[in-house]
Amino acid sequence: MKFFIDTANLDQIREAQALGVLDGVTTNPSLMAKEGISGRNSILKHYVDICTIVEGDVSAEVIATEFDAMVKEGEELAELHDQIVVKVPMIKEGVKALKYFSDKGIRTNCTLVFSPGQALLAAKAGATYVSPFIGRLDDISTDGLNLIAEIRHIYDNYAFETQILAASVRHTMHVIDCAKLGADVMTGPLSAIEGLLKHPLTDSGLAKFLADYQKGN
Ligand code: E4P
Repeated sequence: MKFFIDTANLDQIREAQALGVLDGVTTNPSLMAKEGISGRNSILKHYVDICTIVEGDVSAEVIATEFDAMVKEGEELAELHDQIVVKVPMIKEGVKALKYFSDKGIRTNCTLVFSPGQALLAAKAGATYVSPFIGRLDDISTDGLNLIAEIRHIYDNYAFETQILAASVRHTMHVIDCAKLGADVMTGPLSAIEGLLKHPLTDSGLAKFLADYQKGN
């Protein structure tokens, strides 16, 4: 399972990279705004800065919603760096753009996916990644994890190569449950990854080992 961090905060990205288990980064316009990054040039520079910190894939989202403009914007993003994956929303024009990018060999991440049907369309259009937003489904009393299971089932039925990128991951149990269900990737906050470290028996066991070592020295 690949671990992506879902942020545009460079310090958090550096910290996750330093842990040695980071496979990539996802961003979106809201995450960029949260870091105060605005204006086309600043946004493009920020994507390049992220690419210099991490070794893996960096999702950069198009703002356009019409096919021609999406293609222009996506091609510009893809040319920024070979780690860039063009993030395209699950709308009709987006599906056309996914197919276009796929035919051109430009990697894509189909975002804002909330149903198995949308995931099926994204795979048919050749998306590299599909991003079901599990946390946002949970927020409205719908089982986000069940969507991961449904997409896994459909993709396995037809051996689709599109990778399931569990997005809108909010906490550590989401990460574990997505791993059990066979999501290829998860993207979430650093806290969700660091939560995997924690166990009280590890802490008490280590404290005892260190105390016993001190007794003998
Ligand atoms: C995915 O690529 C999105 O950026 C993200 O996971 C959305 O998460 P949120 O629902 O916590 O905003």
